Amino acid sequence: MVDEAPSGEEQANPRRRFIKILFAIGAVATIAGLGGVGKYLTPPITYATSWPRIRIANINQLQVMQPIVFLYPDTDTPNWLLKLGVKAEGGIGPDGDIVAFSSICQHLGCTPGLLNTGQSPPCNPSYKAKFPMAYCCCHGSQYDLVEGAKVIGGPAPYNLPQGKLELDSNGDIYITAMGPPNIYGKGPGRTDNPADVLMYDTFNSTLVTQATAIPSSG
Ligand code: FES
Repeated sequence: MVDEAPSGEEQANPRRRFIKILFAIGAVATIAGLGGVGKYLTPPITYATSWPRIRIANINQLQVMQPIVFLYPDTDTPNWLLKLGVKAEGGIGPDGDIVAFSSICQHLGCTPGLLNTGQSPPCNPSYKAKFPMAYCCCHGSQYDLVEGAKVIGGPAPYNLPQGKLELDSNGDIYITAMGPPNIYGKGPGRTDNPADVLMYDTFNSTLVTQATAIPSSG
């Protein structure tokens, strides 16, 4: 029932197909529920209606191109908090160089490596970064972290989603939202509508709390 072939309109608009699938799942759950067994067969569909606001770190903890890894918006999704050392698009702090990005490659979900200016990735020693960037050695995708993690090489179709950051008077850094586009693996493909990004990025996931956003270093 749910896996019917997409129509031409749906192929052109994957969001429409995704929402149709949601409704189909909901209909199945409702019908099954009428029989008194639905709640045991189909888990409830959930997604957040607002982004969590999470403290990630204090500005004094940051060193240039030394990432702080945090989970957001759910407990399975890693991101970097980074001080780039150069003013960046969307950057905060006195130097406008503190940014956050999803650390999941938009091609097929590997974890890119971080390169400061002049550094080379282990998989391509002849390559020299011209600015702070992320380089994915799985298939060579390259992201310019100074300009919103836009794709500057390789097969990735979209930029890395960027976190929206705030800095308070104590130097504490908070994340208040993500994207667009969607984090890799979330939703049907590219969506730039903020409400859709929120829905797909948090679809049936476990949202982080202040206690779960920063993984223990062990
Ligand atoms: S998964 Fe990163 S380039 Fe393919």
